[in-house]
Amino acid sequence: MRVLGIETSCDETGVAVYDGDTGLLAHAVHSQVDLHATYGGVVPELASRDHVRRVLPLTEQVLAEAGLEREALDAVAYTRGPGLVGALLVGASVARSLAWARGLPALGVHHMEAHLLAPLLEDDPPAFPFVALLISGGHTLLVQVAGVGRYRALGESVDDAVGEAFDKTAKLLDLPYPGGPQLERLAAEGAPDRYRFPRPMTDRPGLDFSFSGLKTFTRNLVRDAGDEPGARADIARGFQDAVADTLAIKCRRALQHTGAQRLVVAGGVSANRALRRRIDAVAAELGATVHYPRPALCTDNGAMIAYCGYRRLAAGERGDIAFDVTARWPLETLREPG
Ligand code: KG4
Ligand code: ZN
Repeated sequence: MRVLGIETSCDETGVAVYDGDTGLLAHAVHSQVDLHATYGGVVPELASRDHVRRVLPLTEQVLAEAGLEREALDAVAYTRGPGLVGALLVGASVARSLAWARGLPALGVHHMEAHLLAPLLEDDPPAFPFVALLISGGHTLLVQVAGVGRYRALGESVDDAVGEAFDKTAKLLDLPYPGGPQLERLAAEGAPDRYRFPRPMTDRPGLDFSFSGLKTFTRNLVRDAGDEPGARADIARGFQDAVADTLAIKCRRALQHTGAQRLVVAGGVSANRALRRRIDAVAAELGATVHYPRPALCTDNGAMIAYCGYRRLAAGERGDIAFDVTARWPLETLREPG
């Protein structure tokens, strides 16, 4: 079974083909970074228009790379939400049209479920059950995962998502959009012990997160440091260490609480190497294994959408003819396919 996947929920157009027998056949991403950089963040209307320009040429490119004609597809999956509604509508319309023209099932998949399943595309994939930490620009979620569609929320951010905290902090440090990867680069030059940031909500029980305070903490440090050489890198380092520690502490708790032996970490922020080192250390203490997507599949991409669609189809989901997208869509409302 071959599934075409289309991702257009935010500022990346992603397309891929996944084959149930041979794996990922081809995938390509067009990033809109240059388009939004001048504005310091994603401009929704510009994002939608760029998806319109890119999605069909990218689909042709991916099919050519996979050596496939459209006739060789068995289904089309697209991101139904959560995300920017205008941007989602582009992928949904194109996916549904391609599917309708060939009489194929069209599946509207959940963007965070796709992130969650992305590590299953790698060699040595984690078996169910596992705990998943999902860290992206819009979400911070700890989830107990019993199988595809079997999710129990353990914790989430009560304010900013981790990626959002990275992006806002990067802005305060005068780094260009998108801030996460830039901040990681700057932090690599910083001293570890100069600034001690708080580890929010780790001093009380529970698995929720709060990251908006770190941004305020940064703002004060930046103001006090003025033009002092090296201060920005040291602040970036202090911020990143605090985020990594906080996430690692909550992962440890979640593993202990559930007794799980496997941890999945996915979403854009899971590309961060300092964070991976910290989480790996905590998991090793508990004898648990950690599974990440390869860096290119941490941030938004079509491969995870194609794969998520494939898993749901293989489990008996047929897709429907309802054409809708949704900005908000809690992960726990998903059901087992079939
Ligand atoms: O999953 P994603 O591509 O899109 C959403 O679903 O939101 O995540 C994007 C987020 C952005 O906030 C970006 O700054 C962050 O992931 N990010 C990183 C890194 N790479 C991407 N944050 C920290 N370190 C990185 N290396
Ligand atoms: Zn994402």
